[in-house]
Amino acid sequence: MTFFLARGLEWLWLLRMTDSYRGVHNAVSPVGDAEKFLMQWKDALQLALARLLVKEKVKTVEDLVNLNQIPEVSKPRYVRVNTLKIDVDSALLELGRQNMVQKDDVVPDLLILPPATDLHNHPLVINGSVFLQGKASSMVATALDPKPGWEVLDACAAPGNKTAHLAALMRGKGRIIACELNKERVKRLKETIKLSGASNIKVLNGDFLNINPKDPSVSTIRAILLDPSCSGSGTVSVRLDNLLPSYAAADVKDTERLNKLAAFQKKALAHALSFPAAERVVYSTCSIHQIENEDVIESVLPLAASYGFQLATPFPQWQLRGLPVFQGSQHLLRTDPAEDGEGFFIALFTKEDRINHFEKQAICNTSEALSRENCSDQLLNRKKRCVIPYVGTRLFQIWLHGKQDWPQKNQKHFQNK
Ligand SMILES: C[S@@+](CC[C@H](N)C(=O)[O-])C[C@H]1O[C@@H](n2cnc3c(N)ncnc32)[C@H](O)[C@@H]1O
Ligand SMILES: *[C@@H]1O[C@H](CO)[C@@H](O)[C@H](O)[C@H]1NC(C)=O
Ligand SMILES: *[C@@H]1O[C@H](CO)[C@@H](O)[C@H](O)[C@H]1NC(C)=O
Ligand SMILES: *[C@@H]1O[C@H](CO)[C@@H](O)[C@H](O)[C@H]1NC(C)=O
Ligand SMILES: *[C@@H]1O[C@H](CO)[C@@H](O)[C@H](O)[C@H]1NC(C)=O
Repeated sequence: MTFFLARGLEWLWLLRMTDSYRGVHNAVSPVGDAEKFLMQWKDALQLALARLLVKEKVKTVEDLVNLNQIPEVSKPRYVRVNTLKIDVDSALLELGRQNMVQKDDVVPDLLILPPATDLHNHPLVINGSVFLQGKASSMVATALDPKPGWEVLDACAAPGNKTAHLAALMRGKGRIIACELNKERVKRLKETIKLSGASNIKVLNGDFLNINPKDPSVSTIRAILLDPSCSGSGTVSVRLDNLLPSYAAADVKDTERLNKLAAFQKKALAHALSFPAAERVVYSTCSIHQIENEDVIESVLPLAASYGFQLATPFPQWQLRGLPVFQGSQHLLRTDPAEDGEGFFIALFTKEDRINHFEKQAICNTSEALSRENCSDQLLNRKKRCVIPYVGTRLFQIWLHGKQDWPQKNQKHFQNK
């Protein structure tokens, strides 16, 4: 019964997220049917829950959930191949000697192993050829997609698994600055970097907020990974307590802490967006709280637009997107603590104009463009012609918040590129 209720609540919670998401896109209603359903049954559910708490002799929903946690062993294990030291196929072969291994279909350098596989003492882990890094965590650097030769900043770097991933994605070419405030954690960061074999990472022990974006040493940074301190609520297996109406008043201390974290997160993201040469910025947390995720993104949108940034869609094939709390939140990505093992959040800002790139191609392919050299001028004229009449409408919103969702029906075509 306990299990059933916990699962049921979890299901409703997920449904509430996905349903209300769909609601926005179908322009039906911002509140999904599941939420209405949930609200109708709220009292009954609460009563059942209260009875259950008494029966199980626990005080909080969290304790209840802990009683019924999906055992760790049921989650698949992931390892990220450190391609600085070994290629994916060799790692697959090597690990495949003793385990069932397969490649992940979302992150190219990630391998999936059966639940409960213990690799802590595996030679490949010991010598840094593979890292024990979860899927969600491995999606962050992949979303940033830094190119070999770029200058890249990891703003809040320790213990450094994402820094090491960046170095691998850049094939050791270019320059990475790994900034970390906490002196103790800098030690861990340095160990991780050493283990990774990367030789192009410079560690900076200091406050990211104190880095002056105009300083010549950072004025050429093209990509920034910002994975700031967060509540970590996404890693606490399955959280259901936020479903309860009592949640709002639950813990004033908790709320204070979240507000403080969110204030730092907003400041740090605004700072990251201000680096003059930055064209890609990823913001990520291992939190499930809106206040640390969608709210942070929404608060910087005008600033981001003023720098020429827009939200892009990391992993377009991924189903679970941001909570539908603002226009454009469908670009954001969430992972589900139950399904994916961790509750993660990823947002990607880019200055590069992906739709325009394809729009440009399409126009340049038509007879409208007499020469390839001047078709971007034509594109500019065309843009002026078609955007201005729509100011104030949905198109303008899209133009502001990212062009990817227009035109919606061609998006699939673009994503396959
Ligand atoms: C979530 S952890 C980063 C995890 C890391 N990206 C990884 O994947 O291994 C956040 C880190 O940011 C550091 N931090 C917090 N405030 C900072 C600041 N103002 N400047 C630089 N680092 C900061 C914390 O000490 C902590 O190590
Ligand atoms: C790491 O260990 C594996 C397995 O023993 C070995 O094949 C590989 O060559 C080692 N790599 C490095 C960089 O030491
Ligand atoms: C980072 O990688 C190390 C080495 O594989 C692993 O032991 C550790 O659990 C990882 N930490 C995180 C937070 O992913
Ligand atoms: C435009 O033409 C190029 C080269 O012929 C082709 O690769 C591309 O797919 C075309 N783009 C569109 C949007 O039609
Ligand atoms: C650019 O395109 C126009 C047609 O829109 C054409 O008349 C002109 O010759 C082109 N200019 C160059 C430099 O190719």
